[in-house]
Amino acid sequence: MNERRLELFPPTTRLEKMPTGADHLSIGGCDLTTLAEQYGTPLYIYDQATLDGAVDEYRAALRHTYPHATGITYAGKAFLCVAIAQWAARRGLWVDCTGAGEIHIAVTAGVPRAQILVHGVNKSVAVLAAAVTHAGTIVVDNLIELHRLAPLRKREADFPDLWLRVRPGVAVETHSYRQTGQDDSKFGMSSAEAMEAVLFCCQQDLPLAGVHFHQGSHFHDPEPIGPGVDRVLDLIATLRQGSGWTPAYLSPGGGWGIPYHEDDLPHPSIADYVRFVAARVEEGCEARDLPLPILHMEPGRSLVARAGVAIYRVGALKRTPHRRWLLLDGGMADNIRPALYGARYSALPVVSPLRPVTDQAWLAGPYCESGDVLISALPMPDVQPGEMIAIPASGAYHLMMGSNYNGALRPAVLWVSKGQAQLIQRRETLEDLVDRDLALQESVAV
Ligand code: LLP
Repeated sequence: MNERRLELFPPTTRLEKMPTGADHLSIGGCDLTTLAEQYGTPLYIYDQATLDGAVDEYRAALRHTYPHATGITYAGKAFLCVAIAQWAARRGLWVDCTGAGEIHIAVTAGVPRAQILVHGVNKSVAVLAAAVTHAGTIVVDNLIELHRLAPLRKREADFPDLWLRVRPGVAVETHSYRQTGQDDSKFGMSSAEAMEAVLFCCQQDLPLAGVHFHQGSHFHDPEPIGPGVDRVLDLIATLRQGSGWTPAYLSPGGGWGIPYHEDDLPHPSIADYVRFVAARVEEGCEARDLPLPILHMEPGRSLVARAGVAIYRVGALKRTPHRRWLLLDGGMADNIRPALYGARYSALPVVSPLRPVTDQAWLAGPYCESGDVLISALPMPDVQPGEMIAIPASGAYHLMMGSNYNGALRPAVLWVSKGQAQLIQRRETLEDLVDRDLALQESVAV
């Protein structure tokens, strides 16, 4: 059981025998115990080899299955900071930024304009202006946004390419909070709106270059992508007929899932997913006599989730009538996913991780919410206060959705590669917590 859990961790994870005889978990050649002692807990670790391996898997699968040009945008919403934006840019990925904040991170990281793609539903004029200044591509969500964009062109010679986000009318199977492709979704345009948008762009001579759709996030069966692709290709054929315009780019978004728990293993591969999408696009274009578009994938989770590991220290233990509680020093403030989606995780002790399981444990955080439980009913060995616990598959949608609830300080983030660990985001400080605050004026009567 515990050995299968190891498969959820980065492929560089090892058990290192210490002089004491104990096995220590290491990742990317770095001993987790040493890192946690040095940087404190909760601590997030990103393993570069895992990130690189996922990119290589996407690239190889695209190369082998799609007979025309391809590209990959890293969905920054999964995890964005300066260092990871730099990694993405150096790996030749585009970086998807939602809102002016993520654009600022990418620009600070030095991501070249051509590699910045801007997403977002209901982009304000300010966000659109930032996108026009810094991005190579803007994915337009709706007609009002398009009308807001048009006048910005006059002020910018180097105007970004525009893609239209459409609703295919089919969502993938996932938690309802993560479904986006259905007709009733708040994201994207209907077919009629897309036609209006194309005609508007032709009329205004706007650089319309692509069509984008995204059916949802964290799915394991690519099947619903098939009808999604078909519907979007039907729409493209209609747009072509009605306007003469054909997109150079087609993006089926991201959303490929990953295993979080040993019960999710074995999980179909990135290559299985890419093969399915590529074949469907190729066959669909042939059937409709459409030229092959540049196929642009947009993964977040499947690139970064497995690369990230969260390390917590166990403080107190409790036995209640039905549960053994391991109380950790982090929880819903750095990982809201169990509370928000009922996400199921697994864990191992950092020292002697494969020692025999005794019984089930509930791993809970320190915050004032009974819902602050990261893992429920997980078979675990005996664990003592002071021990460290590592939770795999923690790289996506944890820190980006984090909060300062109960005055929590956002954790430090390390980058590990070939035995070297580098701090890429420092832990928040108490000063950070009050940095934005201003004192109540003396004149306020109480
Ligand atoms: N493209 C678009 C337009 C998206 O909206 C998303 C995710 C992605 C790509 C990347 O999806 P991925 O490959 O990472 O699944 N907080 C949720 C996930 C929300 C996803 C939002 N959009 C979670 O923790 O499961």
